[in-house]
Order: sequence, then structure tokens, then C-alpha cells
Amino acid sequence: MNQPLIDQALSSWATSLAQTAQSCDDMCGKPSVEGMLTRMVGLTLEASGCQAPIGARCDVVTPAGQKVETEVVGFSGEKLYLMPTSDIRGLVPNSRVIPTSHSSAVNVGPELLGRVIDGRGRPLDGKGPVKTRLLMPLEGREINPLSRTPIREPLDVGVRAINALTSIGRGQRMGLFAGSGVGKSVLLGMMTKYTDADVVVVGLIGERGREVREFVQEILGEEGLQKSVVVAAPADSSPLMRIHGAMQATSIAEYYRDQGKNVLLLMDSLTRFAQAQREISLAIGEPPATKGYPPSVFARLPQLVERAGNGDKGSGSITAFYTVLVEGDDHNDPIADAARAILDGHILLSRQLAESGHYPAIDVEASISRLAPQIMDKEKQIRVQFFRKNYSLYQQNKDLINVGAYQVGSDAEIDFAIQMQPHLMRFMSQDMNQAVSLTESYTQLEQLLNNQLAKKAQTTTPAASPTSVVNR
Ligand SMILES: Nc1ncnc2c1ncn2[C@@H]1O[C@H](COP(=O)(O)OP(=O)(O)OP(=O)(O)O)[C@@H](O)[C@H]1O
Ligand SMILES: [Mg+2]
Repeated sequence: MNQPLIDQALSSWATSLAQTAQSCDDMCGKPSVEGMLTRMVGLTLEASGCQAPIGARCDVVTPAGQKVETEVVGFSGEKLYLMPTSDIRGLVPNSRVIPTSHSSAVNVGPELLGRVIDGRGRPLDGKGPVKTRLLMPLEGREINPLSRTPIREPLDVGVRAINALTSIGRGQRMGLFAGSGVGKSVLLGMMTKYTDADVVVVGLIGERGREVREFVQEILGEEGLQKSVVVAAPADSSPLMRIHGAMQATSIAEYYRDQGKNVLLLMDSLTRFAQAQREISLAIGEPPATKGYPPSVFARLPQLVERAGNGDKGSGSITAFYTVLVEGDDHNDPIADAARAILDGHILLSRQLAESGHYPAIDVEASISRLAPQIMDKEKQIRVQFFRKNYSLYQQNKDLINVGAYQVGSDAEIDFAIQMQPHLMRFMSQDMNQAVSLTESYTQLEQLLNNQLAKKAQTTTPAASPTSVVNR
């Protein structure tokens, strides 16, 4: 037979086969190939016989019809590693593994305001279903770093010590470093209630279940909840659920940012997020590196944190606070170290201050906002430096002063720091039921320094001013 004719026939046959396959796909979608559950170790399920990419969802269905939702977290050869996002009781060998979707999406919409949902978006507050109609990718979308609007505007968080001394810019990402029981939740609650952000998204990740109720009902209350969305994935939820909880809270914040809103994202805690990632990575065989944390944990942290910040031109901002637990008040914990490096500043809560009944227990000396110079004018910066300088001077000489070894009159600067000390402490403390706005914070700082300098001037001449002291 004529060769060109054979080639032509083969080519048209191949084309019509491809067209038929395409129209089959269009009509019924790609067929999904089911696999089988072959093994389970710890929380990791192994499936063989099916293929699905990392991050895809699979349903594991038992012969009795029970369905467990899972996500693909790894593979080896023909085997897929799955992690459950729901209860795994009742799973049996050879259960069917059915890939369902290739990516995860988060339901978003204005209906979320005032609601408390879990890591899968289901309501926890008994107020009925959340009827959202829009979807956002769980992993977020990349923003070109060059197209992000720069951080120039301050955000009022309603807490005087933060507003005045470690001013936060809209779009800034801060760490809240503290041990247990030193007032993190109360401080986050104060910020939720008193901030001038349009929307507050709170992610309660890996904390005690009891705390979720306490935070929502007692600390936030109806007032705080009105402009908030709370995503809770407490300690007893699966590690994947905790990861999803943090990512979901971020996706919700991104949705509001894309609507042009200024969002405050409060994540309690980043450490529990890292621990959940550690559980998953160790379970699928990744070797531990630093203090039991596998390397992927340190890659996941910036992936989450970088999603906060300012959006492209025209969109709003996500200002974020991530709490970082410093176990046993060890500030060199690997997660604390990594967080300090990727965040734009940190606020440290001191156990010593909390124990002495000083709340919020913010250690001003050890707290910094790397963007303060961009959002404060020169005059305000000078006042803050003057405040910090006097506070530090007193702290450095505190022991001598307390045992009476310091003679008043030996050093004019220390004398002034001693005179200022009770006023500085009063300035930094704030009742949890009181809001102090950004303008009030700046004005009160100015008044405090002016009053103290005037008092000093009455006893000594010439009068010092914050500017002259700082420039000296
Ligand atoms: N601004 C405040 N005014 C008065 N008391 C406060 C203030 N902040 C915290 N406290 C006290 O400190 C206690 C512990 O606070 P909180 O629950 O916020 O700590 P935490 O750091 O979140 O603790 P955990 O690590 O257990 O989650 C509160 O029960 C409250 O008594
Ligand atoms: Mg707490």
C-alpha cells in the first residue's frame, strides 16, 4: 500500500481519537482512578493504586460506607501518603481511596463577620450554616513584592504602650513573644476590640479547647465579635486541621484585603502551627534537624507569614500579630529564632512584669518595631527614644537604687530616670477594659514628657528637652 496514504490515515485516526477523548473528558470529566488503603502508621495512611498530586483531597471509604477526608502530604514510588482531616476511627485495611479534588479552597464572603468557624470552615457557634458564595485558594496567591504598597500609615491597635512606643504600620507583621500565662490572649482580645482596623481575623491554632470559648465569650464578647472572624483549630484537632486553620484565617484576611479593607490578623500561635507541621513531616519520614524540627517547618513559616502585608495598589492591608511561645521563657527556641528573622518586629511580654501585676506586661526595652521610623515623624521618634532611654537607665541601676546603694544627686540623668520611673510604668500599663487611641497615646506621651521635664526644670536649670537630651 502507498506509504503517504497510510501516514495520512494514521494521522487522521489519531486526531479523531484525541477529539473523542477530549469530548469524553468535557462531558464526564477525567475518570478518577481509585486506590486502596494498604497501611497506617501513627496518623499517616498509605494508599496504592491511585495517583494524586500533593495537596489533593482524597476520600477514604470503608466497606461499611464510612468516609474519612484526607489530604496527600507525600509519596514514595507508587505509594501515596495521606493525612486525615477528620476522625479516623473505623478505618479498615483495603478501604477505597478516591481522589476528589486537586486543590483546597476556602469559602469566603461578608457572611463570615461575627462567626466562629473550625479549620474546615464549619460553624462552631451554633448560629446556623455560614452561607458564603465565594472561594479563595487555601494557599493564597503570590503577590509580586515590588507591587506591594509600602508601609507608611500607622495602625491604631488601641493599646497605649504599643501605639506610642512600638508603633505598628498597616501591613506590618509582628511577633508577640511570651511564655504561658503572661497575658497574650488578653492583649490580643484588647487589640481585637479597640483597633481601628476594618476587620479582625483571629486564628486560634493548637491552643486548649477551653481557651477558645473563653476567648470568644469572655475576652472578645459581642462587642469584639461584631467585626471579627474567628477560626479555631484547637489542640485536639488533627495536625493538618491546625495547619489548614492558620491558612484559612490567612485566606479570609486576604479576601477582606482584596476588598480594600484594612485587616488585623491575630494568630495564636505560630509555634503551634510549626509543631503541627513538625508532626506531619516526622510522620512521613522527614528527618528532624533543629531541636526535633525538620527543615520543612522552617520553609513553611515564611510561606504563611509572607501572605500578610500590604496588597497590590488599590487593595487594603493585612497587619498581622503572630504569637510565639517561648517555652520556659527560652528566647532561643528555634521557632522563636526563625520567627524573629522573618517578622518585621517583635513585642516581648515579660513574666517578671506580669508577676508584679503590671499589664499588659510589655517589655519595652526588648520590643522593637522595625518599621517605626517609616511611620513616625522625627519628633515622635525622639520622644520614644527619650522614654526608652530613661526606662533603660532606671532598669540598669534598679538593683543599686533598690538596695539604697545609689546616692541621689550623684548623677543627674539617673536622678531624672528615678523621678520618671513611676510615670513611665503608669503610662505602659492599661486596664483590659480601657481603649487608648493612637492620637491619645501620642498626646499622653508628649504630656508625660513635658510635665516631667517641667518638674525637672523647677529644680535644675537650664531646662532639658527631649530633643536636647537625645542629641546630647
Ligand atoms: N491587661 C490586663 N489586666 C489585668 N489582668 C490581666 C491583663 N492581661 C492579663 N491579665 C491576667 O493574666 C491572666 C493570664 O492572661 P492570658 O490568659 O491572656 O495569658 P496567656 O499568655 O494567653 O496564657 P496561656 O499561655 O495560658 O494561653 C488573665 O487571666 C488575667 O488575670
Ligand atoms: Mg492564651
